[in-house]
Amino acid sequence: MSETAAGILAKELNGNPSAVFALPTGSTPVGTYQVLAKLNREGQVDFSHGNFFNVDEYVGLSRESKQGYYHFLYENLYQHVNVDLTKTHAPDGMASNPELAAIQYEEMIDGLGGLDIAFLGIGRNGHIGFNEPASSLHYSTYCVMLTESTIEANSRFFKSVEEVPKQALTIGMGTIMRAKKIVMVANGEDKAAAIKRLREDTSLDTEFPSSLLRLHPDVTVVTTIK
Ligand code: F6R
Repeated sequence: MSETAAGILAKELNGNPSAVFALPTGSTPVGTYQVLAKLNREGQVDFSHGNFFNVDEYVGLSRESKQGYYHFLYENLYQHVNVDLTKTHAPDGMASNPELAAIQYEEMIDGLGGLDIAFLGIGRNGHIGFNEPASSLHYSTYCVMLTESTIEANSRFFKSVEEVPKQALTIGMGTIMRAKKIVMVANGEDKAAAIKRLREDTSLDTEFPSSLLRLHPDVTVVTTIK
């Protein structure tokens, strides 16, 4: 899965060196980032002109915070490749006005012509980024209250479930749907039901946000799930 996903992302970056990427955190993409780092070391892909945007960030955590999502991408990817750190971005989790930070983040992405590639994971409940199941979804980057299921799933990265932030900033479903290309990775038994639903259920349902990907003309799901 990681080799395949990294191959697709590297090909896109080689074809368009200043491409604009959204990048997820989590367990699933770690291997992809390792393969990308290896390809970079071997001179097979150049990160120096690319623009990289975190898909999401917790409210209340800074860029330096160990559990923060910018820090995650720094640890798992940026420090291992020849990226220009001034071209790496995350929503400002420490902003006194998160709603304004969300608007500014979207404007930054728009200013570069929007996303070329949205690289994504998927939550057990079908969330993408932190676009959680809800009766309505958001067009652009916004501040979201996290669901109990996501807080519990992400507590593995914190000392206790109480420490997990309750809010996050995430690129919106519209930000993702306007990306030229979407690449999703998924593995593990706990994702099997979500991937089965994504494959087989043709209905669009805001309570299963990834179902909207069916409307996008260029989506690749790279998965080990049969
Ligand atoms: C995190 C993100 C989330 C994750 C999803 C799966 O930046 O975008 O949507 O992709 O929660 O996480 P893992 O890979 O840890 O199962």
